[in-house]
Amino acid sequence: MNATVVIPTYNEKGNVERLIEILEKDIFPQVKNYNMNILVVDDNSPDGTQEVVRDLIKKYKNIEISVGTKRGLGAAYVRGMNHAIENMNADILFEMDADFFHDPNKIPEFLEKIDKGFDFVIGTRYSQGGSIPKDWGLHRKIMSVWGNIFIKLLFGREGINDWTGGYRAVKKEVFLKERDKLGAFTGYTFQVGFLWNAVKDGFKVAEVPFNAEDRTHGKSKIPGFQTIIRTLSFVIKVRILEVVSGSFGKFLVVGGIGFTLQFVIYWYLAHNTNLLLGVASWLAAQLAIFSNYNLNNLWTFRERRAHSFLSYLIKMSGFFISSNIGVIVIQSGIVQLSEFLFGRKYPLVYFVVATGVLLLYNFTMYSKVIWRRKPR
Ligand code: GDD
Ligand code: MN
Repeated sequence: MNATVVIPTYNEKGNVERLIEILEKDIFPQVKNYNMNILVVDDNSPDGTQEVVRDLIKKYKNIEISVGTKRGLGAAYVRGMNHAIENMNADILFEMDADFFHDPNKIPEFLEKIDKGFDFVIGTRYSQGGSIPKDWGLHRKIMSVWGNIFIKLLFGREGINDWTGGYRAVKKEVFLKERDKLGAFTGYTFQVGFLWNAVKDGFKVAEVPFNAEDRTHGKSKIPGFQTIIRTLSFVIKVRILEVVSGSFGKFLVVGGIGFTLQFVIYWYLAHNTNLLLGVASWLAAQLAIFSNYNLNNLWTFRERRAHSFLSYLIKMSGFFISSNIGVIVIQSGIVQLSEFLFGRKYPLVYFVVATGVLLLYNFTMYSKVIWRRKPR
């Protein structure tokens, strides 16, 4: 098996030589079951990074360089990983910074995780045994820690504690599968975008804690504020899409159809019959509930739908009871309670709040009771 350590560089003359010497002399000899190679991905750094690397290429046979135009960190990685697979026969692709932010001594641990069957191994600063640089300023520390907590809360994936880090080892299959989606992430958002898509596709993730070190040579290229905004908006967008395209979104669409149906039928009954309006509204609601039940059964909770006619009827009775409790007790109850408590001043507010609670109640009842997952 071949592993290539892909190192993107932009003005890293002061770091790259020392890093490569350490990899060649101290780290690679510890790795037994992989051929270790290095690929430097340089975007025509004006400081002479390339010349330094070309001298090292003469000295070691397992180093290559890919030179291109500067289009950001993500674009550099995509170019580099393609090069590593096509020209260096890489099975495993490492991501690593040139500036010693990532402790190279951890490389064998990444490969052990790969050997155990994991597809995407991430270095983590935020798990036990990992840390962010001690000498970072308070501002950067706060941004880093809180940004990470925010992303973790939104993504909520067990066992993934560092979404944005750039120290990783992935199987080439992961990169090949996600490659087409990665064009959207030119900058540092590449990190979170790559990991997220891999997780969505079911690749197995493992973590290796490491202590991150601030660079002693050169400057960070991270376009600070812009990166933070881009990363956070990506995370928020992706989560909203996930929730809306998931069962909650379908539940809302079904509810919307039900509401329209109720309205049309109520309107018809009010104009064409002598029914009391309360009765007309309630009757129309029952038809809407019948439609909601069937659409939810066939679409929203499709994998958990009723399979026999008996279970179809049992689920439907539960649905009717629960939906009527929702409308009568929860929705009307909250509106009435609000009137008692706050007077008749804000009827619309009461209705909107009550409907919001009703939606949550219904969704919980449907997903946790009526269409609950069967314990295996
Ligand atoms: N070829 C190329 N092109 N390399 C680049 C570019 C680019 O446009 N931008 C940055 N690099 C290289 C740098 O030379 C360095 O080797 C590495 O990418 C990381 O850049 P730094 O500028 O040192 O990034 P950082 O320390 O601020 O950010 C680190 O933390 C981020 C957040 O956790 C990196 O590890 C990022 O990958 C990580 O997302
Ligand atoms: Mn850095």
